[in-house]
Amino acid sequence: MSILIIGSEGFIGSNLVNYFKAQHDNVICADIKAIQRNDYYQINPTDPNYDELFTNHSFSICINASGSANVKFSFDQPKLDFDSNTLSVFKLLNAIKNHQVNCKFLNLSSAAVYGNFSTEPLSENIHCNPVSPYGFHKWYAELICKEYHVLFNLKTISVRLFSVYGEGQEKLLFWDMWQKYKANNNNVELFGSGNEARDFLHIEDVVKAIDIVYKKEDFNGGAINIASGKTTTIKEAATTFFELLPAKNAQYSFTHHAKKGDPDILAADISKLQQLGFTPTFNLHEGLSKYMQWLQEKK
Ligand SMILES: NC(=O)c1ccc[n+]([C@@H]2O[C@H](COP(=O)([O-])OP(=O)(O)OC[C@H]3O[C@@H](n4cnc5c(N)ncnc54)[C@H](O)[C@@H]3O)[C@@H](O)[C@H]2O)c1
Repeated sequence: MSILIIGSEGFIGSNLVNYFKAQHDNVICADIKAIQRNDYYQINPTDPNYDELFTNHSFSICINASGSANVKFSFDQPKLDFDSNTLSVFKLLNAIKNHQVNCKFLNLSSAAVYGNFSTEPLSENIHCNPVSPYGFHKWYAELICKEYHVLFNLKTISVRLFSVYGEGQEKLLFWDMWQKYKANNNNVELFGSGNEARDFLHIEDVVKAIDIVYKKEDFNGGAINIASGKTTTIKEAATTFFELLPAKNAQYSFTHHAKKGDPDILAADISKLQQLGFTPTFNLHEGLSKYMQWLQEKK
């Protein structure tokens, strides 16, 4: 199997590269970072030449793990967020249409497409109602995947990732907690009230779920949730994380100010993924123990 991973040097992309290489697949990497490696293509972010990639190689699948995963950035720089989360998907699919119509396309989307309106587990057929430019841009990208399936017969799918964490991650909730803890372990200030809730999934389970979707799901332009199926409040997640910290007396508090564009609750209905045979390997405590070990070794 020959797999192209766009955004190969990022958190999720690099874990996908390691996973598929360990399965002895032929993996070609592509990212905007300046790196010299035989298996690597450097993409020019302002004028990406995806045609070259698809004319030089034949791929079974292209996984798009590129893009920006930052809600605040999308408010500050909506055009740049659109370019990296939406326009790049259009350009990739156009290159596949022109050069390799049999290459499947799996796009990393986000639970941010759902928005802020339900305390019930979100299933894929609920109407999207995003509350940030990031959520809208991910949704537009999903529609482009659907467009290229319906009108040009390409095999596409969007996977809606909820909260991913684990080794290699240098942003978002647990990374921020770790940075603040290292700066001042007596008072780690966290955004919000702590009653917000998310569905957390360890990166090894995310990669395993993507592999299952690739092998078992129809690429018919639709979307599928990737999550654990268990909703955890931020307070519970913080308690679990702090219990694992080296300093047992570390303290945290909540600012009671919500971040703009962050939904209160994102609970996932994962029945569709379960029907494909997915069950998570790690609960939050086990996954965070692995991540904590990585954080401490990294220093
Ligand atoms: N981390 C999460 O919890 C999460 C949740 C939902 C969705 N996602 C989505 O998953 C994807 C990957 O997230 P991540 O956390 O690994 O982010 P990341 O920032 O760690 O990785 C993104 C990678 O994409 C690269 N990149 C940016 N523009 C590119 C381009 N035009 N061409 C090729 N490479 C480019 C970056 O250099 C980086 O290496 C994003 O699309 C994000 O929206 C992530």
